[in-house]
Amino acid sequence: MNRAGPQTVRVGCIGLGAWGKNLLREFSRTPGAVVAMACDPAAAARDRAQAQHPGIPLTNSASELLRSDLDAVVVATPPGSHYELASAAIAGGKDVFVEKPLVLDVPSGERLVSQADAQGSILMVGHIMEYHPAVNWLKGYIADGGLGNVYYVYSTRVNLGQLRDNENAMWSLAPHDISMIGYLLDERPRRVSAVGHSYLRSGIEDVVFMTMEFPGNRLAHVHASWLDPHKVRSLTLVGQKRMAVFSDTEPTQKITIFDKGVDVSLNYETYAEYLTLRTGEVHIPLVDNTQPLAIECRHFIDCVRERRRPRSDGQDGLWVLQVLACAQQSLDSGGIPVDIPLQPAPPVAASQR
Ligand SMILES: NC(=O)c1ccc[n+]([C@@H]2O[C@H](COP(=O)([O-])OP(=O)(O)OC[C@H]3O[C@@H](n4cnc5c(N)ncnc54)[C@H](O)[C@@H]3O)[C@@H](O)[C@H]2O)c1
Repeated sequence: MNRAGPQTVRVGCIGLGAWGKNLLREFSRTPGAVVAMACDPAAAARDRAQAQHPGIPLTNSASELLRSDLDAVVVATPPGSHYELASAAIAGGKDVFVEKPLVLDVPSGERLVSQADAQGSILMVGHIMEYHPAVNWLKGYIADGGLGNVYYVYSTRVNLGQLRDNENAMWSLAPHDISMIGYLLDERPRRVSAVGHSYLRSGIEDVVFMTMEFPGNRLAHVHASWLDPHKVRSLTLVGQKRMAVFSDTEPTQKITIFDKGVDVSLNYETYAEYLTLRTGEVHIPLVDNTQPLAIECRHFIDCVRERRRPRSDGQDGLWVLQVLACAQQSLDSGGIPVDIPLQPAPPVAASQR
């Protein structure tokens, strides 16, 4: 990345739907950024943007936006259009923030990452959980040995809605969990299996249970569903020393640390002495409550200005995509585990970014 970064980043937002409207709002108030144009073919989405951000020029044509004088483009359209839009933006010399999942197939993802590298463009994927203060608190806690060796984790991301017709619940919801778990463990899974079912529309799974196998016998399970009575966004980590629960639906007390575990004694005479259950105190740490979206948008703008590789760069998008593609293969076969092709290790420790 050898070109100089702009002082003020001129951003163009493509896709102003349910999530894109949040990105538009956030980039409009991110220091060092100005939203210079926004685009959506849907008149209702443009009308809402017009009412909320009267100064921002709007267009119904992504090509018009891509031809205009911009430094960076934000893509928040349905995933089927991510490749075409992101690739066109990079070809036009722009940096790109693309929502998750990066794209829908691995070869396109690889082409996009190579194209961005060859052009010196910054490519960032919207893996928002990697910017969540609670997730970063947990990451530091794990790195400091607070949980001891992490045995296994499980994540639940369920709600009633939002139903999608161009992807199943796994592609829609699980990128958050896959990226978050890989980020927390600083590892990539080797194998994945998934089962699920389509109840509402044929061929679009409403619920998926996915299991990832990490090196060192670590297991990670993800339950993703848009057909569920509860709204749950939670992650449980079971460590050899302590256990942690992160519940993102809690307004403030998002993390609970349980000083619970099973101690193994080397001096024992009976089996009961060999394994001792330990139940200690429960701790709720104070965690910064800045919105992850604000941190994520600021990180992108900082990376564009300083020509830095984002934490959730194209490679990060790519390994998550590989896991999704292998999990889909498993899902299609009724749950047969699929080996995930070896992915590059995380390039730089998060603390160095
Ligand atoms: N990070 C998160 O927490 C999060 C949450 C929800 C959605 N998302 C992601 O954001 C993206 C958009 O999801 P959404 O929920 O906003 O979907 P949505 O269907 O509500 O909105 C998509 C918008 O894109 C517009 N659009 C479609 N094709 C376009 C094109 N070629 N050019 C310009 N605009 C186009 C549509 O008119 C629509 O307004 C998806 O990739 C989704 O996975 C991320």
